[in-house]
Amino acid sequence: MVEPVPETSRKHLTPPNVIQGQTAPATIMEPRQSYNRVFELLETHQKWFANSLPLIASENIPSPAVREALLSDFGNRYAEGWTGERVYAGCKYIDQVEQICIDLAKQLFNVDFADVRPISGVCANLVAYTTFTTPGDTILALAIPAGGHISMGKKEFGGTAGAVRGLNVEYLPFDTEEMNIDIDATEKKIKKLSDEDKKPTLAMLGGSVLPFPHPVKQLADTFQESDTRICFDAAHVAGLIAGTEFQDPLHEGADAMTASTHKTLPGPQGGLILSKPEHGEKIKKSTFPGNVSNHHLHHLAGKAVMFAEMLAFGKEYASQIVKNSRALAAALHERGFQVLGEKKGFTRSHLLVADITKFGDGKTIEKKLEDANIILNRNLLPYDIKADKSSSQRRGCSQDCEPRFRVSKRLPESPLRIRDQQRRLHLHSHPISLELNQTSNRTVKARPHQPYYPLH
Ligand SMILES: Cc1ncc(COP(=O)(O)O)c(C=O)c1O
Repeated sequence: MVEPVPETSRKHLTPPNVIQGQTAPATIMEPRQSYNRVFELLETHQKWFANSLPLIASENIPSPAVREALLSDFGNRYAEGWTGERVYAGCKYIDQVEQICIDLAKQLFNVDFADVRPISGVCANLVAYTTFTTPGDTILALAIPAGGHISMGKKEFGGTAGAVRGLNVEYLPFDTEEMNIDIDATEKKIKKLSDEDKKPTLAMLGGSVLPFPHPVKQLADTFQESDTRICFDAAHVAGLIAGTEFQDPLHEGADAMTASTHKTLPGPQGGLILSKPEHGEKIKKSTFPGNVSNHHLHHLAGKAVMFAEMLAFGKEYASQIVKNSRALAAALHERGFQVLGEKKGFTRSHLLVADITKFGDGKTIEKKLEDANIILNRNLLPYDIKADKSSSQRRGCSQDCEPRFRVSKRLPESPLRIRDQQRRLHLHSHPISLELNQTSNRTVKARPHQPYYPLH
């Protein structure tokens, strides 16, 4: 039996009432009260989301099997380095899971090199910067209003490329009519930068607002001629690429592709980098020791489970996401919303962008919708100048796809499977611990144990 931890007389400042993002004045709570309050808030959040329409394009919900992997003892362990070359002991099973994860990622994306250790999409981009650039180099990327991400941003905006890696970020020209990179203007810009002795060493394509495929194939020769590496940031669209519903950057000429594992890929929060085989060794070193120490091994296991699910059902899943997104775009358009990209069918990805300036500004409308339990995010448009006056809303359709549920149902039953939110909510009052089960072919089983604080 685990002894309850004695409560101390130390006071903690914890805000007790948080209602839909509003924090009440801090009051002093005992640790026990804070502990209970955390679980209350988790439960309240859970109920709210269960009764809401979450449409944030960066989010997804992993299957119960992925969540099961997240609860495993892997989350308590360390395994720096590459499989079989660890800095820590105790990795013999972790190594096997990581190897399976790598193999599945390679198979899913039909590539020869995968590093599944980056712990987020931003981290994967940092790995790409470390691999392909030296501080002081010039890179090309989209500006944020044109769909770029802050991890590709300039130093003056605190962007990862500029502020962390010390890169000089030049913007890719953008065609607002087409909602895409302007190919001719990009070719001219590369020439101009080369003439000015600022030849870009890396072009970051892909981005956060990506309704249509980027012209990787069309620009590949131009980039190659100027010795500019191409990295496609597929943080958002990786699941669609895996399901062959979107462009396939690595087979169109990109040198590398980075991704989050939790947007259109329905995995745990994490990152991933894939590349042509010749960049593999350098990428490995850029990840560890460059940008990751321990790589969150429970997430690694979750990624492996998700890749297996995607191999089995990813095509159907991705196709359904895009159908949903196009149907939502068409329905909004019919109801008078100015959904961008009309000429091209609004979207070919999981997200759509609507200019909502006739109703008000993005921030106010985002709040009104949140009050109505519709959760989506405001977004800048290419013609937005001020960061706080966003004119659009981005809606994502990854969280409401029927095939996702089928993915999880078809996987084998397991004692830790969390079938519904009810069960998840009760974890705090009946905490589980995991132990190795020697007698069955299952590796883990659940067993109730004493909570830290006696709760009843
Ligand atoms: C294009 C792009 N890259 C990178 C990221 C960062 O991903 P993560 O949150 O996994 O670090 C995002 C996040 O939304 C993104 O949109």
